[in-house]
Amino acid sequence: MSDPYADLASQDKELQKRIADAIDIRSQDLAQKEIRQAYLADIKLPPNASAVELGSGTGYVTQDLISMAGAKTALGVEPSPVMVERANLHFADIPNLSFVIGDARQTGLPDDAFDIVLMHTLLCHVPGPEKAIHEAYRILKPGGVLAICDGDYSTATARIADFDPLDQLVRFMINQNVTNLWIMRQISGLLTRNGFALGAFKGHGYVAEGQAEYFLTVIDRGADRLVEEGVLQPDTGEALKQEARDRVAQNTFFGYMSYVSQIAYKQ
Ligand SMILES: C[S@@+](CC[C@H](N)C(=O)[O-])C[C@H]1O[C@@H](n2cnc3c(N)ncnc32)[C@H](O)[C@@H]1O
Repeated sequence: MSDPYADLASQDKELQKRIADAIDIRSQDLAQKEIRQAYLADIKLPPNASAVELGSGTGYVTQDLISMAGAKTALGVEPSPVMVERANLHFADIPNLSFVIGDARQTGLPDDAFDIVLMHTLLCHVPGPEKAIHEAYRILKPGGVLAICDGDYSTATARIADFDPLDQLVRFMINQNVTNLWIMRQISGLLTRNGFALGAFKGHGYVAEGQAEYFLTVIDRGADRLVEEGVLQPDTGEALKQEARDRVAQNTFFGYMSYVSQIAYKQ
């Protein structure tokens, strides 16, 4: 199976809803919010700044452009109608926050229009990421900010000892749901080749805390895919999901991955 996030609009509605549920859980995870705060709050925007998030999912990170980065208005662009509907539902009461269906590589938005463009866990899913970078350059005002944050996916793990079978679920989930594992190790070159000046480049460690709600969605999706592929018997998949829950209950669960953020400026 190729990365379903790369073409979410054409996936089965149930899969789109399952992914939307996982994105909702992740966006509200406190440790994930801290990561977004750590790179968005430092950005200096002009008064009444206009912002756009490309790949806006269920909309929480688009809202951060107002609450954390200080933009006046924020627009989310997202190809999946299920996501756009969900985002509109979450934020119907906020007039300066809106969502439209569109593709990061060809948004149809005007030239030189925005003070900030955000790509939060988008680029790892986009075949031809340079097209999205090029589009961001086009729609940014001169001097405008491009903020990119994505997972450094090879670091994702649930291993608490050698040969821990739960780790295989995480590895398989990543293998099946990410187009480019290495995007944040390639990003600085990609940006400078496309005319951007580089700003802050930061690493952010994410440790699943408490009930590990988001990491359990990773475990579950990995187990279910291995069952669908016929690698695991359904009972084995369920047993591994239960193992993860038992670890959470006994405080022995460990889930970790690194994220990396890069700020850049249109010259
Ligand atoms: C992992 S989700 C992240 C959503 C949101 N940024 C967040 O962090 O909560 C990636 C999103 O990017 C969207 N996406 C994938 N390819 C895209 C493209 N070419 N243009 C715009 N969005 C895209 C997917 O549909 C999905 O909603």
